[in-house]
Amino acid sequence: MEGRQEDVVILAIESSCDETAAAVVRNGREVLSNIISSQIALHTLYGGVVPELASRKHIEKINQVIEEALAAAQMRLADMDAVAVTYGPGLVGALLVGVAEAKAIAYTAKKPLIGVHHIEGHINANYIENPGLEPPFLCLVVSGGHTHLVKVADYGVYEILGRTRDDAAGEAFDKVARAIGLGYPGGPKIEKAAREGNPNAISFPKAKITDNPYDFSFSGVKSAVLNYINGCRMKQIPIVEADIAASFQKAVTDVLIEHAMAAVKESRIKKLAIAGGVAANGVLRRGMQEACQRRGIEFFYPTPIFCTDNAAMIGTAAYYEYLSGKRDGWDLNAIPNLKLGQARD
Ligand code: KG4
Ligand code: ZN
Repeated sequence: MEGRQEDVVILAIESSCDETAAAVVRNGREVLSNIISSQIALHTLYGGVVPELASRKHIEKINQVIEEALAAAQMRLADMDAVAVTYGPGLVGALLVGVAEAKAIAYTAKKPLIGVHHIEGHINANYIENPGLEPPFLCLVVSGGHTHLVKVADYGVYEILGRTRDDAAGEAFDKVARAIGLGYPGGPKIEKAAREGNPNAISFPKAKITDNPYDFSFSGVKSAVLNYINGCRMKQIPIVEADIAASFQKAVTDVLIEHAMAAVKESRIKKLAIAGGVAANGVLRRGMQEACQRRGIEFFYPTPIFCTDNAAMIGTAAYYEYLSGKRDGWDLNAIPNLKLGQARD
């Protein structure tokens, strides 16, 4: 028998929110294809994600997206070693489309099925373009639904150091964008508007959580922005959107950087990564880069396409689960409020 090492090729599916995505990933870090069908245009009409419309769009697009992912990788279903899918957290109807599809494909093609935690996927996105990155490292996960400061102790082993007590960072961006009339999705719109503004024009509060220095709170800064806008209206002072956007963005990113630096200092782990949609934010990326450089910390971040929702990151996370022998049964179900590190049964 030949002693050559076999490649592991995984078809990954992601449908937890408003992107229908499929990817083919070889050996965890080599993305052979990464297809994303975004629903942004649809949800923009309503100012935010409408869950039922998201599910309906996923079911319309999912087969096409998977076919494109296989074609772009120049592979067939038969070439896959496993089928992976996000099974939580996320919108239940949206998750169910991906989970049902993955189960049908894996069952008919007789392939192992691997359910993946969406946030683990975001964290694992850092492995794709950083071949040298290995655990342990710290990761700040900042998405539309989550804000977590995590210690990645090993592949698939996560310890949560801090989390948001109320709104997620991305959620705050989305709500503030709506309040100043920038529309959905808020993050990129705030970032763009902020380029013309003064980040020191308005002093918005940075919440400190006294009993856990790594926890976050963003509802206070969001309310402060809303109060500021109301105050301007009442006093008939002009509302300068660019200054509000820049000052709000500074308040949020300053806190994210401060907490990450505190965690780096205390843990003595000299590697920090960022992940999730808000990790695409240039001010956060540059601020974190500078803070890390000053302290001699190695800093990792995915390119923006791997920050926002995609299936390549799910294929990467699935690879390490595959190696550790994790497999799911045909009873895999969507878990909308799945916790990081939560066991399947
Ligand atoms: O990770 P993601 O695509 O989906 C979730 O898992 O939630 O994150 C989406 C979030 C949204 O709140 C969006 O406004 C935010 O990421 N976002 C940004 C930027 N791009 C996306 N926030 C700040 N700056 C950006 N450039
Ligand atoms: Zn996400």
